[in-house]
Amino acid sequence: MDAASFLARLASVLDERGLLTAPDDMAPYLVDWRRMFRGEALAVARPRTVQEVSAVMAACAEAGIRVVPQGGNTSLAGGSVPNGATAQIVLSLSRLNAIRSVDRVGMLIEVEAGCVLQTAQEAALAAGRLLPVSLGAEGTAQVGGIVSTNAGGINVLRYGMTRQLVLGLEVVLADGTIVNGMRHLRKDNAGYDWKQLFIGSEGTLGIVTAVVLRLVPAPRHRVTALMAVPGPQAALALLSRVQDEIGDQVSAFELISAYSFDLLARHCDLRAPVSEAPWFVLMQADSSLEGITDKMEEVLAAALEAEEATDGVVATSEAQARQLWNLREHITEAEAREGEGVKHDVSAPIADMPAFLEAAEAAVMAAHPGARANMFGHLGDGNIHFNIVVPKGADKAGVNRTVHDVVARFGGSISAEHGIGCYRVPELLHYKPQAELDLMRRIKAALDPDGRLNPGKVLG
Ligand code: FAD
Ligand code: MLT
Ligand code: ZN
Repeated sequence: MDAASFLARLASVLDERGLLTAPDDMAPYLVDWRRMFRGEALAVARPRTVQEVSAVMAACAEAGIRVVPQGGNTSLAGGSVPNGATAQIVLSLSRLNAIRSVDRVGMLIEVEAGCVLQTAQEAALAAGRLLPVSLGAEGTAQVGGIVSTNAGGINVLRYGMTRQLVLGLEVVLADGTIVNGMRHLRKDNAGYDWKQLFIGSEGTLGIVTAVVLRLVPAPRHRVTALMAVPGPQAALALLSRVQDEIGDQVSAFELISAYSFDLLARHCDLRAPVSEAPWFVLMQADSSLEGITDKMEEVLAAALEAEEATDGVVATSEAQARQLWNLREHITEAEAREGEGVKHDVSAPIADMPAFLEAAEAAVMAAHPGARANMFGHLGDGNIHFNIVVPKGADKAGVNRTVHDVVARFGGSISAEHGIGCYRVPELLHYKPQAELDLMRRIKAALDPDGRLNPGKVLG
């Protein structure tokens, strides 16, 4: 089938707004959030229903066209845009975006893939429930993208990764088959739990079209605190103390370096309301019961006494808590404005994080003069964004290898939450044991035998 016939076929299964082919219309879909990766496509398909998704996939299968699924296009791993390969379309899920239902008693939400995460969170909250996936891109990222990347974010400590929240899934396979597993069940051991294959597969195994997500009771009381700490070891001691005292209520425990605050001040005019320190911890606890603020203040007073922290502020209003989180959520933007960044989204055993940070920073400084580490992230989950701001022309792949060699020494992962996309393919192939890569290839071959789903991503 030639390109014109293929496009005519696509147009016949979509509505008049469902197919973009003009370069200006397609442009935003062809470049990633960081503007590092840019590709080309024959068209952007924007189906409104799962049947339209299925028809698009069947047309692509028949014509041998590759498909790049795209949600909010906030991937930090270059997963959501076409690579250099020819004959691809972008399949945008943005218009398949309904909230089908919110079940207050069953504590779940049924939502289509293109629904923006924040919209789903708001619908849950209106029913007195919390959808606990929360991240800086939540105003743009979509539920299908969150599921396809198994997103993490700030609440993993208490509620787990996205995977832990998915009860049901609807996917469209490479040949257009619709698989409807939209069950509302907490317990279901009837056969293989196939939905786990699609969660976190970054669009390389199938198209997520709808999801059932578990909700939790919306907390009635929330306390947020920003603490200045002498270093990562002290932060870890503070984490242990908080876990001992209010562990069942701690929902976030984030470590932020002074350099991150420096970037925030210079590029976003945002300042921390605590005295200067080399490191900071931003934490949050949620509870249905009163008294969590008093308890947090008591715990933090003891931490100051024990010199695990040198200063701190406990938010006294919702607005002040928002301001503290606003600092955290703007670090990525501040870093992007600083210039060339080399991102690392790494994890290591929690207890080893201080030693890992010291070793990784020393290795980078020794091997790459002029580099600076912007370190921040989810210490409570053993996941740090070890992002290196480098001078122009620096050997970025070399920086990756330096950091990841240290990660490997600590038994860590080269991608804790952002995924592999195309950015980390060489690193995955370098560090993942051969037997695991072979198993991944067998799964890929079973579900996408012609290699048409998100080519060049994850396994390359
Ligand atoms: P996209 O970027 O569009 O796509 C991501 C991947 O999923 C691609 O491989 C794409 O092909 C695939 N995909 C998307 N939708 C579908 C679908 N329906 N079916 C099949 N495949 C699909 N991530 C975290 O984990 N934690 C964070 O704290 C975090 N913070 C961030 C902060 C900022 C400021 C930014 C810009 C990004 C952040 N991210 C974070 C990364 C990103 O937001 C997440 O990976 C998010 O889950 C991507 O959602 P999306 O809808 O934008 O997906
Ligand atoms: C975050 O936690 O803010 C993002 O995942 C990190 C990043 O920008 O690297
Ligand atoms: Zn993160």
